[in-house]
Amino acid sequence: MSTRVSVRDRLIDWAEERLPLSELFSFLSHFGFVTVPLDTRQPLRALLAHLDQSAMPDHVRGPQILGALMAMLFGFEALTGVLLAFHYRPTSEAAHESTLAIVRDIPVGGLIHALHAWGATLLVLVVVLRLARLFWDGLWRAPRELLWMSAVALVWLSMQFSFTGGLLPWDVNGYWSTVRGLEVVYALPLVGPVLSFLLGGRVIGEDVLTRFFVLHVVVLPMFWTAALYVTFATLRRTGLGQTTLQVPNRRTTTFREHRHDLALVALFLFAVLVTLAVLVPFPFGAAADPYSTPASARPPWYMGAVFVVQEHVPLGSWFVGGILLVLAFGVLTLPWWAPRAEAKLGEARLRLAGLATIAVWLVLSLLAVLLDRP
Ligand code: HEM
Repeated sequence: MSTRVSVRDRLIDWAEERLPLSELFSFLSHFGFVTVPLDTRQPLRALLAHLDQSAMPDHVRGPQILGALMAMLFGFEALTGVLLAFHYRPTSEAAHESTLAIVRDIPVGGLIHALHAWGATLLVLVVVLRLARLFWDGLWRAPRELLWMSAVALVWLSMQFSFTGGLLPWDVNGYWSTVRGLEVVYALPLVGPVLSFLLGGRVIGEDVLTRFFVLHVVVLPMFWTAALYVTFATLRRTGLGQTTLQVPNRRTTTFREHRHDLALVALFLFAVLVTLAVLVPFPFGAAADPYSTPASARPPWYMGAVFVVQEHVPLGSWFVGGILLVLAFGVLTLPWWAPRAEAKLGEARLRLAGLATIAVWLVLSLLAVLLDRP
């Protein structure tokens, strides 16, 4: 009796004779796409068949969805970003014109541009939400310190992505939002002088645009991928333990079902992004004019809280900046000092303190948008 071999299987067999496919696949699995142990001596087809029937651990299953959303959004941004980079030109003379050409003349260019911009906003929201969730569930405690630190790094890197990307279209909104954002950073002790040195001065011109472009498409993607790797690698080692999001007595899911679930989530995410991009096109203004400041110029929303404090708290911007830096360092090193705070305050109060901090941050961000409006 002859058994039919599908085209996919024949392709795998063909490649298997020429490449160590199972080993390559296991390399990919380090990124957390596969969370069960693999026997890389097996041929890839046998390994995939075994995998399909394997049970997935709890920490990769719904409702724990923010990590998967974050990784998907980044993949989506990388894909649309590379497509944009085919037509984008990173010089102060050509940046605005080339972005305008993407939005106006290139087939589906406007959609890809809007998808990239909306994807960026969602990514920043998702990484911030994920950090709040990790805090709420105490997932900063030993042995998950690196999970927490990589989550903080991912928030910071996503904001840098969004910040450097904002300048690239070289339109009046992005340009002046970058000017205000850099003013916020320049007012910080230590960080301000170092950044101004790295960017080659405080004037935003050709040099800064080129440096932002290199940061945006080369340096930040490398760091982001490294932080994502640390996230998945620590998760594979430590799992999530008991969390508030666990569903009790749930039946076991196989890798095959999990793959389908992920495909559905990806499809839903894509639908949300397309809907946003079509119904609410991202604002794209006239070419930047360094000599005329629009009255509504504000830093990006996620820097708004710092902006408001620096502008309206009368203590000297270096002093205020210093306090903010200490706070940022405090968030990063939370796993080392929070256990003592928790022993004094109790778990519930520490959680509330975290929630209150996020609420203050959100209110200040809102004030930054509303205060001194023309
Ligand atoms: C990983 C690879 C990426 C590449 C190659 C890339 C490439 C680009 C390019 C060429 C532009 C300028 C063209 C345009 O504005 O339409 C741009 C803009 C932008 N990028 Fe990216 N990008 C990447 C990832 C990201 C990520 C992860 C974020 C978000 C957090 C992001 C946020 C932005 C933003 C906010 C803009 C400005 C959009 C606008 O307001 O017009 N990018 N990117």
